[in-house]
Amino acid sequence: MSKVEKLKTGIEGLDELMNGGVPINHSVFLAGPAGSGKTTYALEFLYRGAKEHGQNGLYVSFEESKEQLVEDLPFNWDFEECLEEGKINVTKYDPYQYEDIIDLIRSSVKENNAKRVVVDSLTALSLYVDDIKDVRKLILDMNETLRSLGCTTMYTGEVRTGKPDQVSRYGVEEFIADGVILLKLTEEGTELSNKVIVRKMRGTDHDKGEHPFKFEEDGLKIYSKEEAFSSSGSSGASTELF
Ligand SMILES: Nc1ncnc2c1ncn2[C@@H]1O[C@H](COP(=O)(O)OP(=O)(O)O)[C@@H](O)[C@H]1O
Ligand SMILES: [Mg+2]
Repeated sequence: MSKVEKLKTGIEGLDELMNGGVPINHSVFLAGPAGSGKTTYALEFLYRGAKEHGQNGLYVSFEESKEQLVEDLPFNWDFEECLEEGKINVTKYDPYQYEDIIDLIRSSVKENNAKRVVVDSLTALSLYVDDIKDVRKLILDMNETLRSLGCTTMYTGEVRTGKPDQVSRYGVEEFIADGVILLKLTEEGTELSNKVIVRKMRGTDHDKGEHPFKFEEDGLKIYSKEEAFSSSGSSGASTELF
């Protein structure tokens, strides 16, 4: 059996779910409803790359500006230092310029020698593209470009997790991406709770269970050993909000 080289996300508990990390040069679709933690996962993926693995990162934002992202960071990180040192680049693009987007990403990756790329979010980008065929082509072309540049990429996208058979909105995200990581927001009693599931990961075996995660002071923490209650169970049941 060939040994697939893995890239550690560095998010505590997440790499264990994928037998060591995301296969290098692959892409992951990070899916979930608004407020489920997609942007936070994406930022930590780049932060750990820069701080612990000597890999530069590019954050392509179609939603928040660089200043907003830094301001809203829930952790005690020296993220700004990574920005100042050029280890992480955050670029906010206007999604209506989508025709130029792939060229802009290509030059930025080359210029900054980025190994990890985040595209946040496909939903925001797609809102500006009228024809669904153009959305699909854009996502496919972007994915091909990033793959050929040797990047490992995380795309984010808003989905309703209540419809597990249909993760993506445009019907391409989950097929072009080598992996799908699903984030959920559930209501347990009076508390909101965050869960993560690795739904698909080409090139590696992976855990298929639902795991709770928390926002700790220094980053996300996934409880990889501890299975969350099944939402279909009658006792200890959780209600999915979206
Ligand atoms: N310290 C924290 N503890 C618990 N939850 C937090 C904390 N900081 C942020 N959050 C949650 O994270 C959400 C925002 O996460 P974000 O990554 O921006 O989600 P998304 O990109 O999926 O919309 C907030 O709405 C809040 O619920
Ligand atoms: Mg977000």
